[in-house]
Amino acid sequence: SKICKVAVAGLGTVGVGTVRLLQEQADLLEARCGRKLVVTAVSARDRTRDRGCNLDGITWFDDAVEMARSADADIFVELIGGSDGPAKASCEAALASGKHVVTANKALVAHHGHEMALVAEEAGLGLAYEAAVAGGIPVIKSIREGLAGNKIRTLHGILNGTCNYILTTMRETGRSFDDVLAEAQELGYAEADPTFDVDGIDAAHKLAILASLAFGAKLDFEGVYVEGIRHITPLDIEYANELGYKFKLLGIAEDCGNGIFQRVHPVMVPTDAPIASVEGVFNAVVTEGDFVGTTVMEGRGAGGGPTASAVVSDIVDIACGRITPTFGMPAKKLVEKSTLPMDSH
Ligand code: HSE
Repeated sequence: SKICKVAVAGLGTVGVGTVRLLQEQADLLEARCGRKLVVTAVSARDRTRDRGCNLDGITWFDDAVEMARSADADIFVELIGGSDGPAKASCEAALASGKHVVTANKALVAHHGHEMALVAEEAGLGLAYEAAVAGGIPVIKSIREGLAGNKIRTLHGILNGTCNYILTTMRETGRSFDDVLAEAQELGYAEADPTFDVDGIDAAHKLAILASLAFGAKLDFEGVYVEGIRHITPLDIEYANELGYKFKLLGIAEDCGNGIFQRVHPVMVPTDAPIASVEGVFNAVVTEGDFVGTTVMEGRGAGGGPTASAVVSDIVDIACGRITPTFGMPAKKLVEKSTLPMDSH
């Protein structure tokens, strides 16, 4: 029909950002899609809180699963978070009732993306997750569409904005870890549970998704070696600085033919290395393709605006009928590639 109806579950930083973007850019989006994108329903727990966006005329649901089932919508946008619980249940309900799903939820995709993709593809529905990896950088579409002609052998990147913000700010100001983490939370960068950021789990979710997409492999989050940044002290940062290095939390994935490597850990990078200049909330993803060579993508990896930008890009794709296999090839064609242990490298 002429109108594409959107239901948004979760009104945190990203949910509010998405509703605002859809409203403020309505004319531009209508021109690009050839149809109006209208938010018809939202769900969140607390109805009374003022969230700084206009919800007049939008149907409110207290329960995301109920909204997924019964809202008048073509696209269900899941911005609740968490690998299971209402996030998973509502996405499943949306697919079961014929709605396309857009999600920013890396934990959900890393754990259940393959099974959900099988369901979506069987039903001819979209399951899109541009916002799940590297916030505003269109890294999913770039790898899936832009690099489709290449075998990708390796990729690496800065995949967590909160950690990069903490490491950058600690180095620049000498402030304490806890103090800078609290600031990253206030800025809306950190996860609801910031343990996921600082212990590297969030970056591992994103790395597992990128590895699946780049290597045509089934997701293997459990196979990611993970180490966070909690143990890095201001003194470590100072010494590294004196020696000409910066700490970066990197995610690295490599397809070795007989298996893949997936790892997330702090790395001391030379101050003049290109990745060292990616500071603050910025993320970067570097890929090596056999025909294209190296590509580098950089941009804001967290926050309401950048993440909403990625969510809306998926909504636009679906509204325009661009429904592509979730992981770059039909989910049933993805192969099992075992993750090689770190010490075999
Ligand atoms: N907490 C995440 C980060 C948000 O800091 O990168 C974006 O996924």
